[in-house]
Amino acid sequence: MNIKGLIAQTEGQNYQLHSQYLNPVFAKILKIIGFDVVYVRGEGPYLYDQAGRKYLDFLAGYGVFNMGRNHPRVKQVLQDLLELDRPNLVQMDCPLLAGLLAQRLLEFARPSYPHLEAVFFTNSGTEAVEGALKFARAATGKTRFLYLEHAFHGLTLGALSVNGSEHFRAGFGELLPATQIPLGDLQALEEELRAGDVACLIVEPIQGKGVYLPGGEFLRGAQRLCRDYGALFIVDEIQAGLGRAGRRFAGEHWDLQPDIVTVSKALSGGYVPVGAILTRREIHRRVFSSLERAVVHSNTFGMNELAMGAGLAALAVLEEERLPERAAELGEYFLAGLRELKEKYELVADVRGKGLMLGIEFGPPKSKVLRGAWQALEKVQPGLFAQLVVMALLRDHALLTQVSAHRVNIVKFLPPLVIGKEDVDWALAALEEVLREAQRFPGGIWRWGKELVRGALAR
Ligand SMILES: Cc1ncc(COP(=O)(O)O)c(C=O)c1O
Repeated sequence: MNIKGLIAQTEGQNYQLHSQYLNPVFAKILKIIGFDVVYVRGEGPYLYDQAGRKYLDFLAGYGVFNMGRNHPRVKQVLQDLLELDRPNLVQMDCPLLAGLLAQRLLEFARPSYPHLEAVFFTNSGTEAVEGALKFARAATGKTRFLYLEHAFHGLTLGALSVNGSEHFRAGFGELLPATQIPLGDLQALEEELRAGDVACLIVEPIQGKGVYLPGGEFLRGAQRLCRDYGALFIVDEIQAGLGRAGRRFAGEHWDLQPDIVTVSKALSGGYVPVGAILTRREIHRRVFSSLERAVVHSNTFGMNELAMGAGLAALAVLEEERLPERAAELGEYFLAGLRELKEKYELVADVRGKGLMLGIEFGPPKSKVLRGAWQALEKVQPGLFAQLVVMALLRDHALLTQVSAHRVNIVKFLPPLVIGKEDVDWALAALEEVLREAQRFPGGIWRWGKELVRGALAR
């Protein structure tokens, strides 16, 4: 099979193939919003389409490409591994690279989480969360889970049970026993913990859906309450970790000491899916509690060599290129620019985040004409304004972003951490122009919104 020839012959058939064999509904949405671009190359924070147009990727594969796309160091490690014909997946052995990555991952985590001692490897983020929930049950002997409003931890059934959005939960039947805690409400948390059946509370230090920040006071208070009532405190760092939030792990911002930390996304180096559960030895021991139960939780591909190699390379790049520090510095610069936009444009209700995990929230404008237009859009579907902004950013400014959750007017920025100041300037200038356009009524983005709704209804 000649993969290069196959790609050369078929490039451009992407959307048709997906419509026929994968998810036609998603392919249709991409067409409607003008996202049906055929990307043919990626490098660092940039994507290129068939016509050679250069895009700035502020989505980073949902937070996978902290080190940018196709990083030469990661690529080299994978090529070297392929050349070595390694004895991959023997299963009844202790593979070297998994040992090395576990060691490196704990070392890497040390400035944020010096107390973590043991690792379990998974194939994805949601699988890390599934494992963490099982670990919590095994370690505590309790069954119920607590999670926060807006939470997102993946979409398999266990992770879905701790999902804070009805949009994702609905239609899949009964889930595991779990209770949602309002953001910031320590009293509600304590009431649930008092029942005595809670295995764990799982939190994102910065929430991926909506870029909400639970805050240090709440997070530390929640951790303390979990300890008081014998429940585990799990911090999901799958999106906010590995430099994204301007620290090695985001929990460092608030001096957290979780019992379990979940990691994935950027650990892949942008190449091979991988995830990990980091925990204290004592918790690990309570899961793998006897010779009989030595592999009571396991998987087939978790420790595969290419994933382990990608992980080692990813951590090396994050450290050598000082990407957490870079995220902190550029994040400050970006956030300052977003704050200026908030001062200037009445459509901007809030800007927030940490490091290079930032969000901009739009809200109803004060002036009468714009407010009418806003309300008309919201009536069709809440969050439509943010969708129009995202569409304009891609179409007119080649900036790839995403609305941050279902039916919200929040756009999230999740760029690769290797971007430069000039890339932040690109994004800020693009946003400013779209906002300036949006101040005009009728016309601009509003007229476009009307056309979009008409088009979508007609299809
Ligand atoms: C915080 C968090 N946890 C878990 C997941 C699930 O990871 P995956 O998509 O690899 O299953 C995600 C994915 O976006 C996430 O952001």
